Amino acid sequence: MAQSDIGLIGLAVMGQNLARNIESRGFKISVYNRTTKTMNNFIDQYGSETLEGQAELKDFVESLTSPRKIIVMVQAGSPVDAVIASLLPLLDKGDTIIDCGNSHFPDTIRREAELSTQGFHFFGCGVSGGEEGALKGPSLMPGGNKTVWENLAPIFTAIAAKDFSGNPCVTYLGENGAGHYVKMVHNGIEYAVMQMMAEAYDLLSKSFGLSAPEIADIFEKYNEGKLQSFLFEIAVPILREKDDLGEGYLLDEILDKAGQKGTGRWTAIEGLERGVDISTIIQAVHARTVSSRKDFRMQLAKQYENPSTGNMLPEEALIDIIPELESALYAGMLVAYAQGFDLLRQAAEEMHWELNYAEVARIWEGGCIIRAQILNTLHEAFVEANNAPLWSINAIAQDLQQAWLSLRTINNLGVQSGTPLFCLGAALASLEAMTEERTSANFIQALRDSFGAHTYQRIDRDGTFHTEWGN
Ligand SMILES: NC(=O)c1ccc[n+]([C@@H]2O[C@H](COP(=O)([O-])OP(=O)(O)OC[C@H]3O[C@@H](n4cnc5c(N)ncnc54)[C@H](OP(=O)(O)O)[C@@H]3O)[C@@H](O)[C@H]2O)c1
Repeated sequence: MAQSDIGLIGLAVMGQNLARNIESRGFKISVYNRTTKTMNNFIDQYGSETLEGQAELKDFVESLTSPRKIIVMVQAGSPVDAVIASLLPLLDKGDTIIDCGNSHFPDTIRREAELSTQGFHFFGCGVSGGEEGALKGPSLMPGGNKTVWENLAPIFTAIAAKDFSGNPCVTYLGENGAGHYVKMVHNGIEYAVMQMMAEAYDLLSKSFGLSAPEIADIFEKYNEGKLQSFLFEIAVPILREKDDLGEGYLLDEILDKAGQKGTGRWTAIEGLERGVDISTIIQAVHARTVSSRKDFRMQLAKQYENPSTGNMLPEEALIDIIPELESALYAGMLVAYAQGFDLLRQAAEEMHWELNYAEVARIWEGGCIIRAQILNTLHEAFVEANNAPLWSINAIAQDLQQAWLSLRTINNLGVQSGTPLFCLGAALASLEAMTEERTSANFIQALRDSFGAHTYQRIDRDGTFHTEWGN
């Protein structure tokens, strides 16, 4: 029997769909899962001459063409190390393990270094698009040795989603952890975008008392314009979903505690450690953290009375607010992207990755969770401006300039109605500060010098100064 072109370990939702995608593009694939029953069920349903399962890891490895390519799609963290440890005694030098899970990039760097000294290849590839993306075409973010990539490219290019021009949503991103780094920042931006959408939903509800399906109608219109995106597309039916276990709408019955698996927090920590302002992403993580303290919030809600509760705006105001909110969301998302790309730029410089930002925006145009019209705008802007920082590209600056006042208006409305706008607020503050010639940091410097003799510089002459303040 012919050997398989590639193998895949880990048959949870992502692995199953990725395996079916690979098979559907004309490749033969072998699959393995720690729990054999899961593999058997999968093969019973989808097995074929070109999609076969093995119960024993040894048989799985032997079913693959040499040099072997093995995708690992298991839970990130120690399970990836466990799978590698079980595979290595069965592999030959020159075989490649490709980690397609959401691994933390330092782990990818470590694993690649460890395996390469033993003569094996290890490659990290971020995969975005959830279950449907994995099946029909995800956005793929590969990083590792470039020669290894050239061997993987035919399969990975075939299974990827397509961008706005019909090209595959995959590009080689750089050495070692570059792919998983880009995927991490993608997820960080996803946190910010989702939080801004949640804030818009909250604002419309708190300021105008709109119901979920009324908000669906507004979001549906947004999805026809510059906010067109996968997330707005799925938000509309979510807002209209009736509760199958009771009266009313399902969204109103869902517990307001947001989960998180860690990629947003990793991005936030990266921003802090590399000294890059990614406040929208950090605030999105904070918003989820606050949401998770439900019991304490319930206790405090009894102790405090929000002075704005019930401050509804007249219905007539809604007609003006709908386009303002659309512009504010657009500006907020542009800031989230500008910040995310700033972080990528800083990391690329420090890690010696040659990231092409136009390509990063392009491969996010399709397949992934943040796929959206805005990514085509960013892609074109980067191409036009030769990958200059997003903030400084004329087309983006003009869009931000135009939406600036709307972002302020919406933040004012948030203040009036007592709606916490974690991300839209951070986006406004960042826009105001990033475009300011003179910030308030002179005051910080004076305080630091006063209490700690930290010294300061002057704007009118060179040198370092210290003052005995008040003496
Ligand atoms: N779900 C998504 O939408 C999504 C999107 C993009 C990326 N990802 C990433 O893709 C990866 C897979 O995600 P998923 O949601 O499909 O699955 P998951 O729930 O993260 O992981 C379950 C899989 O990991 C295996 N596993 C766990 N511990 C193991 C161990 N010690 N040794 C061997 N296998 C072990 C499980 O095998 P058993 O069946 O034997 O338990 C199962 O196949 C993760 O890194 C995830 O973060 C997920």
